[in-house]
Amino acid sequence: MGLPKDIEKNFVFDLPEMKKMIRDFQGQMENGLKGEQVSMGMLPSFVSRPRGTEKGDFLALDLGGTNFRVLDVRLSGVREIEVRNSFAVRMPEHLRHGAGRELFSFIAGTLKDFLSKNNIRSLRRLGFVFSFPVQKTAPDSGTLLSWTKDLTASGVVGRDVSELLRRALEENGVENVRVSALVNDTVATFLSAAYRHNDADMGLILGTGTNACYPENTERIGYLENKYRYFPEMIINTEWGGFASLARNDFDRRLDENTSRPGEQTLEKMVSGLYLGGLVKIVLDELVRKQELFKGGDGDAFLAAEFETEDISRIEADCSEKLSGVDDFLREKGVLFSTHADREILKKVCALVSKRAARISAAGVGAILSRMDPGLKNRHVVAVDGALYRHHPWFGPRMQDALRELFPASSGNIDFVQAKDGSGTGGAIAAAISGR
Ligand code: GLC
Repeated sequence: MGLPKDIEKNFVFDLPEMKKMIRDFQGQMENGLKGEQVSMGMLPSFVSRPRGTEKGDFLALDLGGTNFRVLDVRLSGVREIEVRNSFAVRMPEHLRHGAGRELFSFIAGTLKDFLSKNNIRSLRRLGFVFSFPVQKTAPDSGTLLSWTKDLTASGVVGRDVSELLRRALEENGVENVRVSALVNDTVATFLSAAYRHNDADMGLILGTGTNACYPENTERIGYLENKYRYFPEMIINTEWGGFASLARNDFDRRLDENTSRPGEQTLEKMVSGLYLGGLVKIVLDELVRKQELFKGGDGDAFLAAEFETEDISRIEADCSEKLSGVDDFLREKGVLFSTHADREILKKVCALVSKRAARISAAGVGAILSRMDPGLKNRHVVAVDGALYRHHPWFGPRMQDALRELFPASSGNIDFVQAKDGSGTGGAIAAAISGR
């Protein structure tokens, strides 16, 4: 007995569905750029491509979904980026869900300690990488539209986050730092790759959350006031995690009900690291309850255990004949006896859920690149950052398989490059660009 067919059907995302997604996605891109209300953000970044000649020492703060980082970065002026010092900390739970004021005070305090520890006393420009939907009004400021992922800190939505940071720096007595850029992590990733190679066409994040950005011809950004059309192109933060024209199944709906913002971020909840583990767990728990998994008697132990997205990567990496790695994993969870069929089902469910995620991501990439270049005649480089892409053994290959199905003649023109430290170092580049 294998995995019930109806479960499998729920997670299929076949070629016609990918093609439909591309049509809907491109429609929303177009309408969003005209200023119409769509499910994605299509937000202007007020940042353009770097030249690669930007030079000097800059600071970056990187506030993402899970961690907070401070970086001291040197740009060579000849396309080399050196992280001279960095500090990372997991965001404490109470700050993610408490008062926004405390969150910003923590950020400022951490930066202050970093400066003193690394003896940085001279005036420095800083790029704030803030990985949430922000309506920018200038390169160095913007308003938080809503929290995403699982942050809920109060008093931040609707406020200018650069201003909140400046105030917190002032209150903490940090005087030698100027907040000169505010960017999304996708934009930072793009900048980091483009600084090094100049041929990046997209920034992509597959981590706790998911999102993509790309440089758009400013003529095509209908909502942009003429005074801002100073560059031929501007990077657009698509906020694709919000894309809602995807058919959700019953498991998706159950997952959604237990999130901090039900009904929002449809695509993100099908794709990103914050959610995939939970989705797999819902499916597996149902199989346990229906006595289709762990009939040997350890089902209760499995029901009680936690299941994370990184467990998916671990399970899918086990290619041994006996699935002994999966067995080890199950034993750690208290499931001391499992059959080979149980282990196969576990691996199969992980594969179904993460394969759908990879194919949705591939369709998003395909939509953006084929908007820029309809026949994909030119080479395109997608700069990727994020733990899901980095740690999952098959996420990248599955995206490439899906792109091959979509563009049989030209998918070879699409390259993915891992932008190492992209979202952090890109903040420094944004700060450097702001000085042009
Ligand atoms: C969420 C945020 C988005 C960010 C992404 C990846 O989707 O809304 O701004 O880029 O996560 O971190």
